[in-house]
Amino acid sequence: MADLRINFAGIKSPNPFWLASAPPTNSGYQVQRAFEAGWGGAVWKTLGEPILNISSRFAGTHFNGQRMAGFNNTELITDRPLEVNLKEIYETKKRFPNHTIIASLMVEPQQEKWHEIVKRVEAVGVDGFELNFGCPHGMAERGMGAASGQVPELVEKQTMWAKEVAETPVIVKLTPNITDITATAYAAVQGGADAISMINTINSLAGVDLDTWNTIPHVAGKGAHGGYCGPAVKPIALNMVAECARNSTINVPISGIGGVSDWRDAVEFMLMGAGGVQVCTAAMHHGFSIVEDMVDGLNNYLDDKGLDSVEDLVGKSVPKYSDWGDLDLNYKTVARINTDTCINCNKCHIACEDTAHQCIDMLTAKDGSNYLKVHEEDCVGCNLCSIVCPVDGAIDMIEIPSDEPMTWKERETAIKQPSCGISLVK
Ligand SMILES: Cc1cc2nc3c(=O)[nH]c(=O)nc-3n(C[C@H](O)[C@H](O)[C@H](O)COP(=O)(O)O)c2cc1C
Ligand code: SF4
Ligand code: SF4
Repeated sequence: MADLRINFAGIKSPNPFWLASAPPTNSGYQVQRAFEAGWGGAVWKTLGEPILNISSRFAGTHFNGQRMAGFNNTELITDRPLEVNLKEIYETKKRFPNHTIIASLMVEPQQEKWHEIVKRVEAVGVDGFELNFGCPHGMAERGMGAASGQVPELVEKQTMWAKEVAETPVIVKLTPNITDITATAYAAVQGGADAISMINTINSLAGVDLDTWNTIPHVAGKGAHGGYCGPAVKPIALNMVAECARNSTINVPISGIGGVSDWRDAVEFMLMGAGGVQVCTAAMHHGFSIVEDMVDGLNNYLDDKGLDSVEDLVGKSVPKYSDWGDLDLNYKTVARINTDTCINCNKCHIACEDTAHQCIDMLTAKDGSNYLKVHEEDCVGCNLCSIVCPVDGAIDMIEIPSDEPMTWKERETAIKQPSCGISLVK
């Protein structure tokens, strides 16, 4: 059995699975039940003001039979008074001293407001803070959440204000609604952040009702943008984690959030540099018990890989993530169809014929049956056929021998120095 405990920026946790700040962490009742179910930590639903909300506020993007492939919300921060939350945080920490409780905070960008809330909340025994610079709706209209999180100077300054009084670690939660997340991540680091977390939700409109012409969701016939999360946002979150993890100026631990639904997702985030993960939508969809599979799956995975601890896993894929200009232009793969497993649905042929390189030929065997064969000279290795193929293993992408590796950057250098003898890619 591997050691699942983590020490994330000085915050100790029995495992790397935390509930993200959201409805599942809205009260002591819920967080205590989550800890009983096996979650290592919880980031309490964001504390702050005002205590108000709207109805209705959620929408699911169902895709091809899958419920909640994406999830959209227009909810605000906590709907409970600060004193009530603080009392319940205190009681929960007392009952579960070894579990992690992080307080998510949001206040107006004023130094004294940050000082006041940090001191008040720290007094009840939290293990750390997460500054919510991410909520894209409601709070942002009043200069908080993503409105702060989109301005690097405000991220830096507010992080500094929290750090001036915090005795426990400060995590800065970033908004994905920005062109380059490394800019705000760097600002957080400059402000003294002990760690960063990402992503909060992405600006979205879940849908429009074809009969009523109302937005989905709507409030008395009016809609506004909400925040998107769930499985659909995982690739976006993973990229943002990877971009920060490979950036040497952002040298703080990362908590990975966005579409984590099972242990495999968690492992991907950790391989890409996350020291732990947070989960919201998957818990809202399936309940707290999903953590059991996450813990078992991660344990078995680490054992299979011969790794003793989660920390041995973190960042293993980061060196493999770089710039387009570092990719080998001469590397070549081609599609190969396994006629034994192919069910002749023809999807790959149509995809390649209509939208790729017209290199899957339909041939006739001696017995008169049709079969498909890739004309490998013309295949560019785009992967499309293997992506549309409904049968696992019917199409393999095969690496084939190619010229000496040469990246775009090397090619540029070679062009500037034509006498170097390197044969250029056409
Ligand atoms: C209904 C709802 C409410 C949320 N409220 C908060 C919040 O109060 N504070 C916060 O930092 N993030 C909030 N989030 C964002 C989540 O913490 C998380 O960053 C996001 O949902 C991505 O993770 P997921 O794909 O696992 O859901 C909320 C998300 C949802 C769906
Ligand atoms: S990899 Fe792309 S180009 Fe090659 S056969 Fe498949 S679809 Fe066609
Ligand atoms: S998509 Fe897959 S199963 Fe369908 S014809 Fe092509 S290889 Fe065969």
